[in-house]
Amino acid sequence: MSSTIEQIKERLDIADIVGSYIKLDSAGSNLKARCPFHNEKTPSFFVSPSRQTYHCFGCDRGGDILSFVQEIEGVDFMGALQILADQAGVEIKKEHQGSKSNKDNLFAVMEDAVSFFEKNLKSQKEVIAYLKKRGLTGETAKMFRVGYSLSGWSSLYDFLKDKDYSDASMEKAGLIIKGDKRCYDRFRNRIMFPIADVSGRVVGFSGRIFSTENEKTAPPQATRAQAKYVNSPETELYNKSRVLYGFDKAKMAIRKNGFCILVEGQMDLLMSHQAGFANTVAVSGTALTEDHLKLIKRLTDNLIIAFDADDAGISASKRGVDSALSLGLDVKITPLPKGLDPADLILKDKEAWTTQIKEAQHIIDFYINTLAEKELPQREFRVKVGESVLPYVAILKNKINQAHFVTEIARKLGISEEPIWEELKNTPIKAGQTKDKPVEENNIKKAIPFSRKEMLERKILGIVLWQEESDDGILGIEEVEDKHKKIIKYVKSKYEIDDEERKKCIFEAEVYYDDTEKIKEELISLIAFLEGEILKEEFTETMNRLRIAENKGEADEVAKLLKQCQEISKKINSLK
Ligand code: CTP
Ligand code: MN
Repeated sequence: MSSTIEQIKERLDIADIVGSYIKLDSAGSNLKARCPFHNEKTPSFFVSPSRQTYHCFGCDRGGDILSFVQEIEGVDFMGALQILADQAGVEIKKEHQGSKSNKDNLFAVMEDAVSFFEKNLKSQKEVIAYLKKRGLTGETAKMFRVGYSLSGWSSLYDFLKDKDYSDASMEKAGLIIKGDKRCYDRFRNRIMFPIADVSGRVVGFSGRIFSTENEKTAPPQATRAQAKYVNSPETELYNKSRVLYGFDKAKMAIRKNGFCILVEGQMDLLMSHQAGFANTVAVSGTALTEDHLKLIKRLTDNLIIAFDADDAGISASKRGVDSALSLGLDVKITPLPKGLDPADLILKDKEAWTTQIKEAQHIIDFYINTLAEKELPQREFRVKVGESVLPYVAILKNKINQAHFVTEIARKLGISEEPIWEELKNTPIKAGQTKDKPVEENNIKKAIPFSRKEMLERKILGIVLWQEESDDGILGIEEVEDKHKKIIKYVKSKYEIDDEERKKCIFEAEVYYDDTEKIKEELISLIAFLEGEILKEEFTETMNRLRIAENKGEADEVAKLLKQCQEISKKINSLK
């Protein structure tokens, strides 16, 4: 394995890889950019070509090309390795893929099943005509590998058997069902939508009923015997609550556009992609889970939910909204015209879909407006808003955002803000959610906020460590005066840092002072600032002791401390 990674790293340059996702500007011998992993206005994301590493000083993410690709593509280690191996032209040997031979076998059987369904569709004139009628182009169908499962009890089973797959692996993949006497196909006479994992490997299917009879009496009535949709069961590969339909194809567009559109069904997703919104994903038949949302949150903070406007749709979205808001996502909703889902709407009028997306309302506005439309008596309206909207305001992580909605609600209710703030304080936060977690906590490892003193210490430490490891010698640092050496020694002894932290500290110093010719002067002035901070601390402490002594009436002590304060203050002034 390590040789594969080494080969990849030898052939690829981090600047090219990162540069293919975001625009890099030069910053001395490093490169900088606005961090792709968190929102920021000024660049704090740095790439070091000499170290082949990156680090963001804003969100504390960092690492090498592998971790970068993992993070930006939302794939796991093996996924990133595969992507980079392909680019580097390095082959990953099978044994490197770990002890997952069982999983490999399942991936293989799924892949063969997809190809089989794809091939089947080609001869199904009626199905093709139906898909066309729904507005789907051949190109979209091909891209999403739409297929068809034949009638008969075992066409897939027979096909796979011929390819030497065991009954057990077909069953484990969720493709067949073992009866008492024989095995039969789970999916029959259905339009097949393959569901892929984040790196595009097929892990499951959703099969939509197809019968020309049914389509004549649209909408098709699902009978007890024949559900409209049949989905793969949970398997070793397919975990419904973690897989979003279309995510593998949407991830780059989500990053690029800065938001993600969430729809309910397969057709909705396909049509939305086709209408130019490649940043669309679908839940496809399951409730929206926190894991789904975390997948999205890796790529963006902005989510637009476009579920049916029927009550079921709204309450389904409500369920996910709690977790979305508490994850720090900005959630908008776009209520669809009654009786239309995105697929229907796009078929009718593609522009209307664009408008829907553009005019999506923040979820809280949406709830207020929905209540307002009911034209309740004023008092009841106010109470209802308090009951059903304030809990969402309470979950909001961003305090400015929260204040915005308090103002908004006050305006809509025609009352002042105070009672709303008051009410908000008493609004219980639902279980599992806490009010005060910082926005980033769920996703971003937050850099420890440093005090000014600690910041100076860290910079000094960084310069010293950097110079110590640099080949060009110590750049005159050895020549600093003894009093400076004393401070350096104090800083070095104060922090016990591990290797990773050490590297980060050095990188930070390099980024800051790379262009600086007079590193020694830089260091001395940092030390002077630090001395100032140390004195200020001393001053505050002495003042505290003075106050206590005064309260106790200890005249001698007071006099002594007063003198000390004056001396410290003199020293502080002499530093300026
Ligand atoms: N669904 C499901 N199982 C069902 C019904 C629905 O998994 N028995 C999922 C499917 O992913 C479906 C989505 O829920 O796409 C929405 O269901 P519905 O609105 O009934 O279907 P449509 O998406 O409108 O399907 P179509 O447009 O093809 O009729
Ligand atoms: Mn539909």
